[in-house]
Amino acid sequence: MSKKPQIIWVCQECGYESPKWLGRCICGAFGSMVEETVIPADEQDSRRRVSSGGETAGGAGRPQKLKKVGSAEYARIKTGMRELDRVLGGGLVPGSLTLISGEPGIGKSTLIIQAAAKIAEKEGTVLYVSGEESEEQIKMRADRVCESLPDSLLVMAETNMENIMAVSEACRPKFLIIDSIQTIYSDALDSAPGSVSQVRTCGNMLMKIGKSWNVPIFIVAHVTKSGELAGPKTVEHLVDCVLHFSGERDHEVRILRAFKNRFGTTSEIGAFRMEEKGMIEIQDISATFLENTEASEEGSVITAVYEGSRPVFLEVQALTSRTSAGFPRRTAVGVDQKRLAMILAVLEKKLGLPLGDQDVYVNIVGGLRADRTSVDLGIALAIYSTIRGAAPSKRIVAIGEVGLTGELRSVQNADRIVMEAARLGYEEVILPERSAERIDKSRIPKTCRVAGVRNLYAAAHVFLD
Ligand SMILES: Nc1ncnc2c1ncn2[C@@H]1O[C@H](COP(=O)(O)OP(=O)(O)OP(=O)(O)O)[C@@H](O)[C@H]1O
Ligand SMILES: [Mg+2]
Repeated sequence: MSKKPQIIWVCQECGYESPKWLGRCICGAFGSMVEETVIPADEQDSRRRVSSGGETAGGAGRPQKLKKVGSAEYARIKTGMRELDRVLGGGLVPGSLTLISGEPGIGKSTLIIQAAAKIAEKEGTVLYVSGEESEEQIKMRADRVCESLPDSLLVMAETNMENIMAVSEACRPKFLIIDSIQTIYSDALDSAPGSVSQVRTCGNMLMKIGKSWNVPIFIVAHVTKSGELAGPKTVEHLVDCVLHFSGERDHEVRILRAFKNRFGTTSEIGAFRMEEKGMIEIQDISATFLENTEASEEGSVITAVYEGSRPVFLEVQALTSRTSAGFPRRTAVGVDQKRLAMILAVLEKKLGLPLGDQDVYVNIVGGLRADRTSVDLGIALAIYSTIRGAAPSKRIVAIGEVGLTGELRSVQNADRIVMEAARLGYEEVILPERSAERIDKSRIPKTCRVAGVRNLYAAAHVFLD
């Protein structure tokens, strides 16, 4: 006998469920509760055509000896795109669920169809389910960006989750793609596609497919204007990897980054160039973000971050101008605003720079957000350079974390950054003394001087000597 469907109220911001309507959710959002009907679990199971099919992961509730459990590491599926494999930790793990998010039009579908074609070529059936585009639209893009379209690459325009499960069961793909989760709905719920309950329920059903048949699944998800994943955070907890695809509209470089990865590091980034032929991988990333590597200009400093296993060089630009408003404006693009405020305070206090009546603008050129503290010194010297109205006579790279007392804290992998700076033809690297001491100078070409400095004051002197 089937139970009565239950009515609940679900917050569309945070996913909180309440038996009654609330004007304000516990997360603080007003008017975000939406009525949803939940069909009891036993009835849901009878509606699903697949759940009793395959063997569930983990031996159907039986404990196993851990050392006897097979390793999925050897079975990783290479996507044929090294940059994507790098971010995934070496390829797709069978049975894993990966969420890929990004702003509209950034190139999510392009990247995935390219990987899908390559996997289909080598591994067999790949099923690309789109709830957003027709098969013809997908074909148009695939014709443009894929080298070849193997017979084993299947596409389906479908939004019903139960149908997707049935088709997946019938064709047992080696790789399944859902583009996008916000367009898919399950019959088990009355709410609209994209609602918190639908996203969560469909996420759970996809996990069941993945774990039951050991198929890796890519789920495309949209982000809101503020960059948050649209839909509940719960789906982030459910999946194994959360990837974010980003880039600036005016630049062709696209960066793939893992925010969560159960099978690899989250510090690796994948770099692509979006061209008419699709995503072109950038293997030699270190100088990708540099446009002007020759001349030293006032207010411009080259700095570096260590991303995963590769150094990436960035240009910091700073500009100051006398403020016309009551209080000075601080504008940071690609840098954390609080970090900039701290660096400005140190510059004012320790170097005596008159910043109190100056508007300050700082920009990291190229669209890569520099969250690492190794860029602090570059930012500080760019501001110093613009205030002094002078540029260094040499090609310099500056790295180091700035402390509140003006001291410079060491940078990880400084040796690799210095080696790469020398390879790119920089004449001097200014870095914290501690980091400089650890570098094996005999390995650095004579053309590149390693200048270890203790604090910001010393760094400023070396910079404009
Ligand atoms: N013929 C073309 N040549 C070059 N670039 C193109 C061409 N057609 C589309 N594009 C680029 O592809 C981008 C769309 O890529 P794609 O559809 O993969 O993005 P998406 O992230 O999946 O977007 P959505 O969120 O809308 O699904 C467009 O922004 C456009 O810049
Ligand atoms: Mg798309």
